[in-house]
Amino acid sequence: MALRILVTAGPTREPFDPIRFLSNRSTGKMGFSVAEAAAERGHIVKLIAGPVCLPTPHGVERIDVVTAEEMYQAVESTFQWCKVLLMVAAVSDWRPATVHPRKLKKHNKNQSLGLVRTRDILSSITPRKGARIVVGFAAESDHVEAEAVRKLNDKNLDMIVCNDVLQRDAAFESDTNRVVIITRDGVREALPLLPKKEVAVHIINRLELELFGA
Ligand code: CTP
Repeated sequence: MALRILVTAGPTREPFDPIRFLSNRSTGKMGFSVAEAAAERGHIVKLIAGPVCLPTPHGVERIDVVTAEEMYQAVESTFQWCKVLLMVAAVSDWRPATVHPRKLKKHNKNQSLGLVRTRDILSSITPRKGARIVVGFAAESDHVEAEAVRKLNDKNLDMIVCNDVLQRDAAFESDTNRVVIITRDGVREALPLLPKKEVAVHIINRLELELFGA
């Protein structure tokens, strides 16, 4: 059965002047792989992408955004449509408190940057999730699985995919990843180091298993 699947991918950028921004190391590869794997399985896929240099997977409808707030608005307006949300994006947790309309010049010797929290997209959306399946991703450096389980509960998720960002052969800017999938019901699936596309196929398999059974 074809599902309507919404995927987010990539980083967000939080500008503080017309030239500069705060962002992170996400390349979007994991999210784009998930969108591609879902489309190849015959699902109907929309992909909300932060600024990345990747081609749109075949058959996927892409919505480009830049900031965390734009990503929130795009998820908010598409959430009703979907049956499954996979929140793969590395959404910036902070944005500069002030966005200067003109270039900041370096004669301001000790320029400081005040930061304010962005909205947590998952936490804002899951109180209205109804019968939808919501999957989060957690990139951690410490207590990886314990932190992932905490987020699974705090953000009211059905599944979380976590990885250790300190591994050298996996995660950010890599073509491979080593993840653990944890479901709300306590299923734990630890995958070996795999190309991100193969990780994505496993995630879609697990999702289909949760929804349709064996
Ligand atoms: N996420 C989100 N909105 C944000 C930040 C994160 O929806 N503003 C989502 C991510 O897309 C991911 C999940 O929340 O699916 C976990 O993101 P992560 O950055 O690991 O967690 P945080 O909630 O930012 O928590 P912490 O800073 O404690 O690691």
